[in-house]
Amino acid sequence: MNEYYNLSDGFKIPKIGYGTYNEEFENNKKAILTAIECGYRFFDTASLYETERSLGSAIRESGIAREDVIIETKLWIDEMGYDNAKKALEKSLNRLQTDYIDIYMIHWPRQTGAEDEDWKKLDVETWHSMEEMVECGKVKRLGLSNFLPHHLKNILDNCTIRPVVDQLELHPGYSQEAAAAYCKENGVLPMAWSPLGRGRENATIGNSILVRLAEKYGRSIQQINLRFLLQKGILPIPKAASREHMMDNLNVFDFELSSDDISMLACMPQTAWLGEHPDFVIPDRKSNPENV
Ligand SMILES: NC(=O)c1ccc[n+]([C@@H]2O[C@H](COP(=O)([O-])OP(=O)(O)OC[C@H]3O[C@@H](n4cnc5c(N)ncnc54)[C@H](OP(=O)(O)O)[C@@H]3O)[C@@H](O)[C@H]2O)c1
Repeated sequence: MNEYYNLSDGFKIPKIGYGTYNEEFENNKKAILTAIECGYRFFDTASLYETERSLGSAIRESGIAREDVIIETKLWIDEMGYDNAKKALEKSLNRLQTDYIDIYMIHWPRQTGAEDEDWKKLDVETWHSMEEMVECGKVKRLGLSNFLPHHLKNILDNCTIRPVVDQLELHPGYSQEAAAAYCKENGVLPMAWSPLGRGRENATIGNSILVRLAEKYGRSIQQINLRFLLQKGILPIPKAASREHMMDNLNVFDFELSSDDISMLACMPQTAWLGEHPDFVIPDRKSNPENV
């Protein structure tokens, strides 16, 4: 793939990445090796996903040079704080078998949802620890995940190193126009997680607007989703297990949706939202203490 976005620090990043997480995703390493063969060079993982090990090992096994792949990972809510963040980075480096991370993110802005009144302080403390990681070369650049405008503003107001990306749930039916616009106004590239709505039943996949557009353009519903995000200037990171799906998701640079169709997708009723809101719901998961 030869299509890139320029991040605010000048770094070139492929317009489509590969997501390594899914609850039902087995055979992770094999799939990542196939993704490398298909041409994916930008990989998203997180300490929470327990896919860092398989990603690191797939990259080594593929024989591809470390500098030719982009690794993005995240620290989880129970790894926030100045010292915890430093420990989390060392564990991630170890699992990924690398000595640097290309993009390091805070995964979630509030540790305990609505009850967390000190989230601003903890986010900034964690960020300052991450800035030191950049200064010492173990991390190349910093990003955020699930940070809505008010969370992002807190970081922008208190940082020395600005975030280059913010990863949000973004897809037709949950396009979070306000959050994506705020990112862009502030030079932060919005990145889409669950860009295909994770294929949720009666949701994105079954949505009649998408079905109609897929027929109109002679493309898969998933390609319509991805094209929508790309035309909005968003970087999607779809997860796919099969070579066929991986290729389908890369072959989206030879057609264009009309502005009317983009508008229709942006305005469609809410569908396929995963249901985890950064201010109110904390995903019921803890990082695995065994996962060192
Ligand atoms: N920051 C966060 O909080 C957060 C949260 C969730 C996810 N993420 C990241 O975002 C990535 C992607 O999100 P996701 O895994 O939730 O969902 P997704 O990418 O929206 O959807 C994945 C589903 O779509 C199917 N699929 C993929 N390509 C397809 C195609 N061309 N045709 C038909 N079906 C296709 C996959 O099936 P097959 O597997 O059978 O191909 C899988 O069931 C994750 O892997 C993770 O890296 C981040």
